Amino acid sequence: MTPCNQKKMNQNKLDKKIDFENILDKVRVFAPATVANMICGFDILGFAVDKPGDEVKMYRVSEPGVRIRCITGDDGRLPLDPDRNTVSACVKMLLSDLGLLNDIGVEIELIKHMPIGSGLGSSSASTVAGLFAVNVLLGSPLSKTELMPYCVEGERLACGYGHADNVAPALMGGVTLIRGQADLDVIRLPVPDELYVGIVFPQVDVPTRDARKLIKDKVLLKDAVVQWGNIAGVVAGLFQNDYGLIGRSMQDVLIEPTRAILIPEFYEMKRIALENGALSFGISGSGPSVVAVSRGGEVAQIIVDKIKDHLSAREIDSLQYVSAVNIAGPKVLEFDV
Ligand code: HSE
Repeated sequence: MTPCNQKKMNQNKLDKKIDFENILDKVRVFAPATVANMICGFDILGFAVDKPGDEVKMYRVSEPGVRIRCITGDDGRLPLDPDRNTVSACVKMLLSDLGLLNDIGVEIELIKHMPIGSGLGSSSASTVAGLFAVNVLLGSPLSKTELMPYCVEGERLACGYGHADNVAPALMGGVTLIRGQADLDVIRLPVPDELYVGIVFPQVDVPTRDARKLIKDKVLLKDAVVQWGNIAGVVAGLFQNDYGLIGRSMQDVLIEPTRAILIPEFYEMKRIALENGALSFGISGSGPSVVAVSRGGEVAQIIVDKIKDHLSAREIDSLQYVSAVNIAGPKVLEFDV
């Protein structure tokens, strides 16, 4: 432990008591990538995956404030300025609400293990890792539910709109339903054991901000009826362990037809996935990553290999991941980094 600062902070916006004697020196954490929308549930459904994900190493230092020590894996694309970087900005916000900003100093190393602008919740994984790390460093004064609004604020900073369908599963793990956006009513749904995904990221950049601008703000009632039937079907399928119901419900008639045009070979990839046993196939978050949902990892592996070959033959580079649905959310990797 760092030599203790005996000052006790009993009064702060969050009304949390921080035990200064037990603040940790260092921690290294992981937070998972996420598949927002779960194909049919635009802005309200999402799930976490075991891989990829981001890491944050956080160090307590004597000089108060929040600083970024370094970022790796981002090709120099993310800001080091602590007020502009979403990870440090959210950590600052939390320390400020805890009344600690002038008393505690932390430095952050962000290790990105996933591409930015890929539709895999890259900014969410980093933000959740940062907030989870500082909470662990402080002795976990906040519950995950209490951390959630800070994570959502990170999304607002990263893409201009504070949607929770990436941060909620990244923080809570599993499949999450955002029943209410304004009151942040987040519900964890059951996850069947054999639910796997094969994810392919065709290496073209589609920022969420741009992908959202494309979407029409009015939908036809007949399409809405199809979509909400599908959303209800997915939720029922998860509760009933019914892979067939999950698969036939994960269909998007509202958003996919518009966004698919940004994704090279989308309909060919979909054909390959469905012909090779996918329960469903669609866009991950705002794309361009695509996701094949399957029963078991072997089917998912076959699908991503075939899609990779298809894209390679057309000179499109891609990254592939096969993963179960992540249940735990963020986790501590090491206390002594
Ligand atoms: N629900 C958001 C969207 C998720 O589709 O724009 C972005 O990752």
